Amino acid sequence: MRIGLLTGGGDCPGLNAVIRAVVRKGIDGHGDALIGFRDGWRGVLEDSFMELTIESTRGILPRGGTILGSSRTNPYKRDDGVERVRATFAGQNLDGLIAIGGEDTLGVANRLNEDGLHVIGVPKTIDNDLGATDVTFGFDTALQVATEAIDRLHTTAESHNRILVVEVMGRTAGWIALHSGIAGGADVILIPEIPFDIDEVCRLIRRRHERGRYFSIVVAAEGAVPKEGTTMTLAAGEMDEFGHPRLGGIGYALEREIEQRTGFETRATVLGHVQRGGTPTAFDRVLATRLGLRAIDAAHEGAWGMMTALRSADIELVALADAVADVKRVPAQEYARYGVLFG
Ligand code: F6P
Repeated sequence: MRIGLLTGGGDCPGLNAVIRAVVRKGIDGHGDALIGFRDGWRGVLEDSFMELTIESTRGILPRGGTILGSSRTNPYKRDDGVERVRATFAGQNLDGLIAIGGEDTLGVANRLNEDGLHVIGVPKTIDNDLGATDVTFGFDTALQVATEAIDRLHTTAESHNRILVVEVMGRTAGWIALHSGIAGGADVILIPEIPFDIDEVCRLIRRRHERGRYFSIVVAAEGAVPKEGTTMTLAAGEMDEFGHPRLGGIGYALEREIEQRTGFETRATVLGHVQRGGTPTAFDRVLATRLGLRAIDAAHEGAWGMMTALRSADIELVALADAVADVKRVPAQEYARYGVLFG
């Protein structure tokens, strides 16, 4: 078979491990020819690609980012997008394409499949917000980075009797915030799914002071929002060129608000893209490898329109349509379970 590969959306640690696994199994296991499109769907639209061989993918397993480059280009946002994708498939004589991406990239993969093109998906994102898979690779690495940052902030917060606010990524899902906050022993965790009450945040911090703990760690997801009616000044939301809200800023808003309301010295740290960069954890390398191996086999089974997914301990195939139907968010009961640890 002749199979194309692409990585789309925000990069995340483990993408190269998938590419390597697909190439190794494709060439040595199935006798395939593989090409990699550059910069996500942009490479397919412009027929910009590179040959992928065992040699060209050597040494990439532990490397963060993606050797193929990535973008948020969406063929459905161009009038001639789908025709151009068809033309590339035909010109390249492709039997199919493996798209490694999150909600947006796999949403495109699903629509292309409905339009009759042969596409298989592999789920990735640090946000862990894709349905139909227990976890996405990249999440574990982001979690490690955020947890280590919280550990480091803990010691300096304690030395200076400060309130330290840590803003983490996650878009509209609070997985990174909740899990890193629990792992790092945060005193307050704010997630997008549950609008927060700033009075309650300050009450928890004051209670710690009353109990003789003069520092606190507040972990806030970038998408955390105050309850309706709260008087808090927030930065006006910007959009990126693909129509996604550009998140971020809640950490600094909380810094101002907590200091003003409690009188305790408060500082914010925004972890930002540090969470997405660098080498993947062992867990993410193994998961990415398993997903890649299954994806190339799925192509040989003709399982177009499917996505590889981790379900319990197994890698299974699920419909792309199911995976992109809903964003997977933190359930309210899951968050409530940890309430006893706050403050
Ligand atoms: O989806 C991954 C992610 O890192 C989100 O957590 C974050 O909101 C977004 O991408 C940032 O995107 P960009 O790198 O385009 O600013």
